[in-house]
Amino acid sequence: MPLDANPFHFSGPLDPTEMIDRELEAGELMALAQGGHSVRLVGPRRYGKTTLLQKVLDDAEAAGMATALVDLEDVLSLGGIVVRIERAYARRLQGSLRSRVERMLSTWNIGLSLGGPGFSATLQRNPHTNVEAVLLRLLDLPRELHERAGTRSLIVFDEIQDILAVSGADGQIRSVIQHHLDAASYAFAGSAPATMERLFADPRRPLLEQAVPKSLPPLPAQEIRDYVQERFERTGRDAGDALAALLQLARGHPQRTMMLAHFLWAAVPRGDVADETHWVQARETALEHASGYLAATWRGWPVNERRVALALATTPGGPYTAQAQAEVGIKKSSVRYALQSLTDRADVLEIDSAHALTDPLLELWLQRHGS
Ligand SMILES: Nc1ncnc2c1ncn2[C@@H]1O[C@H](COP(=O)(O)OP(=O)(O)OP(=O)(O)O)[C@@H](O)[C@H]1O
Ligand SMILES: [Mg+2]
Repeated sequence: MPLDANPFHFSGPLDPTEMIDRELEAGELMALAQGGHSVRLVGPRRYGKTTLLQKVLDDAEAAGMATALVDLEDVLSLGGIVVRIERAYARRLQGSLRSRVERMLSTWNIGLSLGGPGFSATLQRNPHTNVEAVLLRLLDLPRELHERAGTRSLIVFDEIQDILAVSGADGQIRSVIQHHLDAASYAFAGSAPATMERLFADPRRPLLEQAVPKSLPPLPAQEIRDYVQERFERTGRDAGDALAALLQLARGHPQRTMMLAHFLWAAVPRGDVADETHWVQARETALEHASGYLAATWRGWPVNERRVALALATTPGGPYTAQAQAEVGIKKSSVRYALQSLTDRADVLEIDSAHALTDPLLELWLQRHGS
């Protein structure tokens, strides 16, 4: 990286070599995958789920496993799921493993391929393709790969809750992968704890009964401190007193930490030490940058959830107090339900038995907005 390129990236999954910590989590997930176990990983939005899983996939690949990261965000049809799985293999498989899978797909002769135009072109040419049959076959690829070459697979389904939009898809996935105990391990990631619970703990139809639950905590303060300071120093700056303020505001939220560090770095000229003025400038830039998203997020919530969120951000004693009722206009009897909905989606976290908004910038935005 050139000396004066900003070393803090805050959009999209992060390159595994740029990660703060998560060593314990990556090690645990890798050990589970190698031991033939599947996991479900729950973490709030932008908490680094995809970043962590990419790191685990890289480790699994280095250990000789076939890997794929299937992104199911906003998927709407069975055909869409097939395309996402096909593209996932196409993105990650390399070398002889890739050639082997390419040959297998070609002998199946059902319109799948890693290199060519792939299944979306097949669907365009023949809209009456039996998509369900193709999906079932493709889902079973890890078993065939294991039978033929002894290769085990680690397959990640990211944003797994979005398959609920495709009727019957969870059942089809389950019907195939439940027989893969020897051939593959699966990791399922999602950001809404309640939906994940529904997908995996429903006794009538769990997606995968034996998937080990794992949740993603905030990043540890000491590791953030070392990482930020090291990158400031490497680029001729000092994070100074601003670092403590950054840590305090970000509360270990991975994406907000990186975003604030990015704007702090940008506010500090080369050769300078970051102080209160730089920090205030960085914080305001970050808030301005995020304000469209924050406004849309908050306004998209039902009115009582908006009230509870505002109370969490602005009323010292929280949403159950008389002060909150007077200020944000929520009845005590409605707080519990609204708080539960916010917690179900991990928009609110319970830390040391107190509730707080997950996104520290949303909290700051509401404090400004509410006053
Ligand atoms: N371990 C980490 N160290 C430093 N920053 C991180 C880490 N994990 C995530 N981030 C920050 O958060 C951003 C989002 O990460 P990522 O896309 O992996 O999160 P996610 O939980 O998958 O998000 P989404 O809910 O949008 O899918 C990254 O661009 C990076 O700035
Ligand atoms: Mg993600």
